[in-house]
Amino acid sequence: MSSASNQVQHKRVMSGMRPTGKLHLGHYVGVLRNWVELQHQYECYFSIVDWHALTTQYDNTEMLQENILNVALDWLASGIDTQKATVFIQSQVPEIAELHLLFSMVTPNKWVETDPTLKDMVTMLRDGVNADLTYGLLGYPILQAADILSVKGSLVPVGKDQLAHLEIARDIVTRFNHTYQSQVFVPPQPLLTQTPLLPGLDGRKMGKSYGNAIYLSETEDETWAKLKQGITDPARIKRTDPGNPENCEVIYKYYQVFASAEAQALAADECRTAARGCMDCKKILLDFVMEEMRPLRERRQALANDLGYVHQLLREGTEKARATCQDTMREVRSVMKLYQLTL
Ligand code: TRP
Ligand code: SF4
Repeated sequence: MSSASNQVQHKRVMSGMRPTGKLHLGHYVGVLRNWVELQHQYECYFSIVDWHALTTQYDNTEMLQENILNVALDWLASGIDTQKATVFIQSQVPEIAELHLLFSMVTPNKWVETDPTLKDMVTMLRDGVNADLTYGLLGYPILQAADILSVKGSLVPVGKDQLAHLEIARDIVTRFNHTYQSQVFVPPQPLLTQTPLLPGLDGRKMGKSYGNAIYLSETEDETWAKLKQGITDPARIKRTDPGNPENCEVIYKYYQVFASAEAQALAADECRTAARGCMDCKKILLDFVMEEMRPLRERRQALANDLGYVHQLLREGTEKARATCQDTMREVRSVMKLYQLTL
């Protein structure tokens, strides 16, 4: 787990997540476990990017506040520690919008128009329903660049799907520094996460819209009801049919993420010889999943019962992030020779 690295390295980590609902095991093993590690090694800023959610959900803001709170609960429950990492709400830091505006001045239209991630998003972000390409959505990668650079993030833990956005952020930095003959920003680098992708219970990508996700906020009973449905090696029709864990695309993947090495080997063995049935195999898996999830869910419950405290943590984190962004913006306005009233 969190190695011997007590000394915090100089690079600053920045990442964000759109608040679109409760987080699931896919977020946990794919993103949050990694962030929890990183907070011991680097200074970290983690942002709940509600403006980014608006780029596609601008006409559906009913759930936004609740979603923000659920993301905060899921992060804190997963072990994001506000003593170590700065956790904040994007929309409460107006300096990010200011930097977005100034970056938009130096960004050629072509860069955003040809962004492949953006094209995918138009179809994907609204749970399969096409989003219209608004001016705001077109600005998505510029806003993301402003997120990262307003706090001077230099390392950005993201998945492969975000590399195109990060490339634009680097191009903006180069162009900004060149235009204003300055070194205000350093091009941010991606930190590609080495985690296995956890599929949904039906074998597709885990996601809310597919109804195939296990949520961090669920109980053991709910988790079991779902795991029970997880697909297994289709060759195991009868209990006595031997199987092959390599063809068990959901349940055995979960073993590889949650179970000990010995338990994985034993499951593989007993699968091949039909010494165990899939139901028993899933029951053993449930114990491993719960071992990791139980403390997390208890923490989540405790925090959910003390929302005043959660709001206070968010307020403190946001104030801290805002102070950092204000320093950055003073520098930016200065190298751009913008008018600054001293009030
Ligand atoms: N675009 C990212 C995603 O969809 C979310 C995001 C917004 C982000 N701002 C960011 C990620 C800044 C890293 C850094 O996952
Ligand atoms: Fe998958 Fe386990 Fe069934 Fe084998 S026994 S197919 S590993 S669930």
